[in-house]
Amino acid sequence: MSDAQASEIEKPKVVTSRYALRVVVQSVHSEGKTIGLVPTMGALHEGHLSLVRESVRECDFTIVTIFVNPIQFGPSEDLSRYPRTLDMDLELLAEHHVDLVFAPPRQEIYPEGFSTYVTPPSVAEPLEGKRRPGHYRGVATIVLKLFNLVPAHIAYFGQKDYQQALVIRKMVCDLDLPIRLEVCPTVREPDGLAMSSRNRYLTDAQRRQATALSQSLNQAAEMVAAGESDSARILQAMRETLESAGISRIDYIALTDPETLEDTAKVVPETMALVAAYVGDVRLIDNRRIG
Ligand code: PAJ
Repeated sequence: MSDAQASEIEKPKVVTSRYALRVVVQSVHSEGKTIGLVPTMGALHEGHLSLVRESVRECDFTIVTIFVNPIQFGPSEDLSRYPRTLDMDLELLAEHHVDLVFAPPRQEIYPEGFSTYVTPPSVAEPLEGKRRPGHYRGVATIVLKLFNLVPAHIAYFGQKDYQQALVIRKMVCDLDLPIRLEVCPTVREPDGLAMSSRNRYLTDAQRRQATALSQSLNQAAEMVAAGESDSARILQAMRETLESAGISRIDYIALTDPETLEDTAKVVPETMALVAAYVGDVRLIDNRRIG
């Protein structure tokens, strides 16, 4: 797109306060429009934009939230260096005809004295939950707050964060939240790397190494297609693929039940493969169904 074309596209309306958000949401509701909500932490890429496109296609009014949620980061995690690219994000959202962006400052969401948190469901315990204590407590809390601030008809999440989607789905069910969830497929780079805001930290060499994550998942699926069903053998092959790419700091490789995320000894058609590993000091996750 040329600069002239870009400047013709109006940026979406941005609100930063809960009050201003409520005013817009109430007027949209009174017009009888359906609202789609896409929660993000910004640094938008094609993965986020696929959710936005789905919302714009299905709903009358799309609200994207951009908030780097401090309470879902552990003390040794990358909160302070998490990429913040608001101007670029707004341009992308304008091109996608988003109606409203909610980009609150931290104080607006967690004012002095904030002290109520959601205890996430048990599906939050394995995998990410074990390696990132408190992470899903932070995710569940912010997502519940966003659902309350934006009483949307449909909220859009990505399969890229498979466990996160399960945690939110269970919270919605257990707490009777009046919202529908849609989980959209993982968007990948041409070489298979799942798109992530954290990919921008990778050096060229690390970027090449990082493709081993999706390769290990594809390899698992190929082994299953060729008749292998023994989880231990598949996990071993996946580990070798990661290690031969020079990825040695592996948080987990797991073959699990798709709902409970419990390890499975034998692969069945629904089995999920999930992986989390460090490439350099960048922690990446990926998953796919392999059965
Ligand atoms: P963030 O990492 O910004 O992701 C926002 C949404 O985009 C999530 O639902 C995530 O699963 C989805 N997404 C990310 N990469 C994707 C890809 N390659 N393909 C498809 N979807 C993708 O996830 C969060 O933020 C936060 O935890 C949040 C839910 C906003 C709460 O703070």
